[in-house]
Amino acid sequence: MRVLGIETSCDETGVALYDSERGLLADALFSQIDLHRIYGGVVPELASRDHVKRLVPLMREVFERAGLQPGEVDGVAYTAGPGLVGALLVGGACARALAFAWDVPALGVHHMEGHLLAPMLEEAPPQFPFVALLVSGGHTQLVRVDGIGEYQLLGESLDDAAGEAFDKTAKLMGLPYPGGPEIARLAESGTPGAFVFPRPMTDRPGLEFSFSGLKTSVLNAWQQCSSAGEVSAQVQADLALGFETAVVETLTIKCRRALKQTGLKRLVIAGGVSANQRLRSSLEKMTAGLKGEVFYARPAFCTDNGAMIAYAGCQRLLAGQQDVSGIEARARWPM
Ligand code: KG4
Ligand code: ZN
Repeated sequence: MRVLGIETSCDETGVALYDSERGLLADALFSQIDLHRIYGGVVPELASRDHVKRLVPLMREVFERAGLQPGEVDGVAYTAGPGLVGALLVGGACARALAFAWDVPALGVHHMEGHLLAPMLEEAPPQFPFVALLVSGGHTQLVRVDGIGEYQLLGESLDDAAGEAFDKTAKLMGLPYPGGPEIARLAESGTPGAFVFPRPMTDRPGLEFSFSGLKTSVLNAWQQCSSAGEVSAQVQADLALGFETAVVETLTIKCRRALKQTGLKRLVIAGGVSANQRLRSSLEKMTAGLKGEVFYARPAFCTDNGAMIAYAGCQRLLAGQQDVSGIEARARWPM
């Protein structure tokens, strides 16, 4: 089965072709980051308008690169949520119209299921069952995964998502959007131990997270340094490292707990924050200690992309699922 996947939930337009026999045939992405950067975050109306502009050229590109004629597919999958509704409607309307014209099924896919399954596109994919840590701009969740569609939520953030904490902390330090890669880059020249921030909710049992207090701790430290006139590039790097270390250690402690609780050995990390090198190394060390293994996607498939939607859609279409009604677009949608 060959599926066209369309992702437009936020600020990246992603299009890809996945074939259940041959794997990923082609994928193309346009990132709107430069468009939103001056506003310090994503402007929904601008995002929707830009998706309208980018979709058709990206689609031409993937069919051309795959050596296929437009329409040589067995289904069209699109991100139906969670995300910005206007942006989702662009991808959904496009997918539905194409599916109608080509007389193939269309299917709305859950964005976080896309992220969760993205490591399946790599050379040595994880086998079911596994524990997944989903860490994106909107979500921080630990999920037990027994198969496609068999997801059990083990714990999630009670307030900010991990990526959101990176973005907000970067903003208060005067760094551009998106903050995750900026903080990671700065942290490389930070002094270990110069700032030590709390590891929220690790001193009590459970798999819940809370990141909003951590951001406030960084804000307090930043304001103290500013009023003392001490905000040098080195202090900024030290703060970035202190913050990143606190997030990474917190996530590592909870992942270890989730593996112990479920008795599983395989851990998958997915979503934008799973591109973070310090997080990957920390989880590799932790899982090795448990004689387990950690899996993640290549950096380009950690953040939003069309390939993960094409893959997830293909699995669901193969299982006989398809949309029954009109275009789906949900701002919030539990997985
Ligand atoms: O999955 P994603 O592309 O979009 C959502 O579904 O939200 O995740 C975007 C998030 C942003 O918050 C961004 O700052 C964060 O992922 N991110 C990172 C890194 N790369 C992206 N956070 C930490 N380290 C990174 N290297
Ligand atoms: Zn995402």
